[in-house]
Amino acid sequence: MTSLERLLAEKPNLKFIFTGGKGGVGKTVSAAAIAYKSTLQGKKTLLASLNPVHSLASVFNQDLTGGTIKRVEGTSHLYAIEVDAKDIVERYRENIGKRVREFLKWSDIPVDAGPFVDIAVTNPAFEESAMFDKMMDIMLQQGSEYDRIVFDTAAVANAVRLIGLSKIYGLWLGRMIESRKEALSMRVQLSFRKEKVMEEVKKDPLMADLISMNERFLKVKNVLIDSNITAFFFVTLPLALPIAVVKRFITMVKAYDIPVGGVIVNGILSRETVEASQGEEYLKNKYEEQIQYMRTIKKDLGDLVRAYIPLYPREVVGLEMIKKVSEDMFSYVPSFWNEL
Ligand SMILES: Nc1ncnc2c1ncn2[C@@H]1O[C@H](COP(=O)(O)OP(=O)(O)OP(=O)(O)O)[C@@H](O)[C@H]1O
Ligand SMILES: [Mg+2]
Repeated sequence: MTSLERLLAEKPNLKFIFTGGKGGVGKTVSAAAIAYKSTLQGKKTLLASLNPVHSLASVFNQDLTGGTIKRVEGTSHLYAIEVDAKDIVERYRENIGKRVREFLKWSDIPVDAGPFVDIAVTNPAFEESAMFDKMMDIMLQQGSEYDRIVFDTAAVANAVRLIGLSKIYGLWLGRMIESRKEALSMRVQLSFRKEKVMEEVKKDPLMADLISMNERFLKVKNVLIDSNITAFFFVTLPLALPIAVVKRFITMVKAYDIPVGGVIVNGILSRETVEASQGEEYLKNKYEEQIQYMRTIKKDLGDLVRAYIPLYPREVVGLEMIKKVSEDMFSYVPSFWNEL
């Protein structure tokens, strides 16, 4: 039994799985392979991509456009969704616009809301918060429908930044609610007795909106920091930069109490492959280089390493390849690992 298999066996209620790592290291492939494995264990599984550029469609050779959940052809209970960033951002922009307008109206500030909305939505973090919101939607709405949801999150800092953002989001909402309470009470205190103030506060649509946003956020946060329900996996290649990114990620994630499921080392050149090449110079050099990086991985991340994926002679495309990756992830251990 591999370490990854043991983890999944020990945590049968693991519902939300995330894959993170530097761009191009194999996050999508790993997410798909974990999702597929989950279906073999009888779990109805949803694989959700929240990347601005989609890749599930090419991984499964299937049209996944439209932003709806579709069953992956050739599987019995694997489902996939590719969230369309453009749609989400547009809807989120409308929502924010509505809030800003309501706020200005409520405060009796007679200015055009347009520029304020533009400022609120014209910043690089906007798309991220929109996607984070969508992720929360999927967690809350599909959480009861699926036994497991695997999120293929965007490259590098995105996944972790989302969590950091969620913390700030919570703080910000808390403050907003407090200040709205104060402002509203001053107004209503003139005409109501004290015990009626809170009731009045809740009648304000903006206020009710903020309170429900905060409740929603807290629900998700509680799930995200529960190690029996959530696990973040970090994917790396045996190369300097991806390893550094994973180390940085793990430090950041731990600071936010996000449970680390483990590290997946992808793209491993096996000793057997090199030997079979009868001393091909390029492969030999690559292999030696890899051994050095694998030593670093073992030294710095050792116990966290839960799975290895060999380097395949071609890209991972189609369900058959995903099945292969899935098998390897749960069985392959490079022969040199114990000698490092
Ligand atoms: N072990 C492997 N052997 C051969 N090709 C691989 C392997 N793992 C991944 N690939 C290929 O490498 C490319 C990148 O993989 P993948 O899309 O899973 O990475 P990613 O981390 O999701 O990338 P991005 O950051 O762009 O989302 C793909 O073309 C994939 O088919
Ligand atoms: Mg990807």
